[in-house]
Amino acid sequence: MNDKLLKAREYECKKEKTIAEGFRPLFHLTPRCGWMNDPNGFSIYKGKYHLFYQYNPYETVWGPMHWGHVESEDLIDWKYLPAAMAPETDYDKDGCFSGSAIETEDGKHLILYTGVLRKQDENGNFYDVQTQCVAVGDGRDYEKYEMNPVITGDKLPEGAGKIDFRDPKIWKENGKYYLVVGNKTVDGDGQLLQYSSDDGFNWNYDKILIKNNRRFGVMWECPDYFALDGKRVLLTSPQDMLPEGLEFHNGNGTLCIIGSVNDEGDFCEENCQAVDYGIDFYAPQTIRTKDGRQVMIGWLQNWDALAIKREDFPWFGQMSLPREISIKNGRLIQKPIREIKNYYGKRVSRQNVIVTDDCVLSSVEGRCIDMTVNVRPTGSDLSYGKFEIRFADNGKEYSSIEFDPVESVVKIDRKHSGNRRAIVHQRRCKVADNNGEITLRVILDRYSMELFINDGEQVMSMGIFTDIKAEGISFRASGELSMDVVMNELEKKK
Ligand code: FRU
Repeated sequence: MNDKLLKAREYECKKEKTIAEGFRPLFHLTPRCGWMNDPNGFSIYKGKYHLFYQYNPYETVWGPMHWGHVESEDLIDWKYLPAAMAPETDYDKDGCFSGSAIETEDGKHLILYTGVLRKQDENGNFYDVQTQCVAVGDGRDYEKYEMNPVITGDKLPEGAGKIDFRDPKIWKENGKYYLVVGNKTVDGDGQLLQYSSDDGFNWNYDKILIKNNRRFGVMWECPDYFALDGKRVLLTSPQDMLPEGLEFHNGNGTLCIIGSVNDEGDFCEENCQAVDYGIDFYAPQTIRTKDGRQVMIGWLQNWDALAIKREDFPWFGQMSLPREISIKNGRLIQKPIREIKNYYGKRVSRQNVIVTDDCVLSSVEGRCIDMTVNVRPTGSDLSYGKFEIRFADNGKEYSSIEFDPVESVVKIDRKHSGNRRAIVHQRRCKVADNNGEITLRVILDRYSMELFINDGEQVMSMGIFTDIKAEGISFRASGELSMDVVMNELEKKK
């Protein structure tokens, strides 16, 4: 094993011991120490779930990208494994960037990732060269392939840039390996390229899978491409987006394109939508579980909102809760992974609570909860103007979810959560007009809130770093409404 990886493994082992359990979320994965961004290599290997992540063990800022590594039996309780890769070779010494993994027929864990090498031109300007590389392992130790990189700039189609060429996602279909990878053209537009291989090591360029055509942002990062419910789904995370109504927001965003594959094997787009309508969600990856569920996990953070960070924390970056995804009426549906139910503790349930003003329900509080709130007008008319749930509330700081039944808009808000930076703290999302009825499922886990609206028709996520003792929850309405609340405390069983 090389020095850099050994050093990282020794460091993380020591550092981890200094981080008390209560300092982390209960269910949301955080880096073993230091910094985490994108989920990588989400896969099943020898019957266990494996997840890697973009990782700088040494500091809570982005830096030399390693691959951190965890495994799990149920996608909720993760166990840290030693760091899998460090940036050290002549093709990846400036970063082992994002990628994916798959179990091969002969029982190996095959990783495809992007190697980054910083170069300097004759004028002294730095530029990156990004190539696709392979590493092979046994679920713990990984060996970089001696013939790396396996896809370089000379396997690019005309007009493709060599600088932004990253994040390969591998899959197997009809006995062959394929990968889709992000690319920025020399004239500055995003596209995704497809390659294929018989063995996972020797790759041939197939085609441009899809072009952005200057619609959604610029470079498309971290693609994923899979069959689901009779459709073909493409996920990607565009940089530098412009807003479109309440569908897409400025900056780094997420994009889901639902379509089908024609007789020539080409992807035909049908519907485009955001994946997550909140503030913090990026670079999701999916797997197909043994029982046939497509499960997605994303980075519960956004590049444009890094200033949500608490300087006193020994870790930065967390993953979303894994979500079961499906397609209904041409749209993406997301639900919290059902295994979360195995972690339910005390349950509080109230039916037909009339809310007219400010309302607190006894025992409805906490920072690790899975709570579903059903709201409806009290009569046949729209009897209320606004509904609000406040949470992580200590009387001074709080965050909120607001529903405006007239506009059919849900807003999440962390403006008063205690953060002192002028970053985005609110986001709105247009939801189905159901005459004032709405279902809000809220999952709180110490430093995050994920909101599943109307059985997963839309999801809004955000990080909140309010003091952990802020546990208050209250409900408010202008006018009069009726609600049911079912709250399950979440706890880790020993
Ligand atoms: C997305 C991303 C990827 C890249 C990685 C680097 O968040 O920019 O495109 O591989 O992060 O850490």
